[in-house]
Amino acid sequence: MSAASIRYANTKTMPVEIIPAILAKDEKELRRKVESVEGLCETVQIDVMDGKFVDNATWADPDRFRKMPLPMPYEVHLMVADPLERLDAWSLAGCQRALIHAESVDDLAEALRTVKSYGMEAGISVNPETPVSAIEDAVAEADVVQVMGVHPGWMGQEFQEVAVEKVAELREKFPELIIEVDGGVSVGVARRLADAGADRLVSGSAVFNSGAPAKSLDALRADVEFEE
Ligand code: DX5
Repeated sequence: MSAASIRYANTKTMPVEIIPAILAKDEKELRRKVESVEGLCETVQIDVMDGKFVDNATWADPDRFRKMPLPMPYEVHLMVADPLERLDAWSLAGCQRALIHAESVDDLAEALRTVKSYGMEAGISVNPETPVSAIEDAVAEADVVQVMGVHPGWMGQEFQEVAVEKVAELREKFPELIIEVDGGVSVGVARRLADAGADRLVSGSAVFNSGAPAKSLDALRADVEFEE
């Protein structure tokens, strides 16, 4: 049995969820990408970049999402200098979960409580250079911790191995925590992350650059399947 199966041996074997990452320059690209995975996944992740916290900017307007909702549940990955700024708008837009970067706020636990006060699940996102020790005190307030496999800002970057160790460390310290990984997730990397203890894997280029999102999603799911 793989480590992942051993990890869940005593409980229901939860399949690892694959979450397509939607990084879009405008509404047309966002809607096209969302439509291309409609019915193929439970959740999508909307990359929200302001060009300040990361040196890239994306289109993601909660007021537009409220007027024209997405056809599936979604989470926002807030790669922005002020992640609390538009939480009310995201909540009104029906966003299920908001992931905020530990590196973008002073009081992480308080920021997570603020996210939850708007009725959304609250997640911590940590960059490759940020150690687990930097977020340990806030994990109790988090519904999920997202480990970055790349430095945020762009799709198609090379996976950083430190993410595997960080997942294993989080799993060891917080056995019940939902652990998500975002950045550089492809077939092979996905398996190693699942074995290290990841519950959700976010994937951008491996899903969208293939030209066949359904096939790519199937390949990623096959890669993380638990052996019976
Ligand atoms: C950081 C973004 C990731 C990225 C994933 O740049 O938060 O979601 O779009 O893209 P891949 O899977 O290609 O690294």
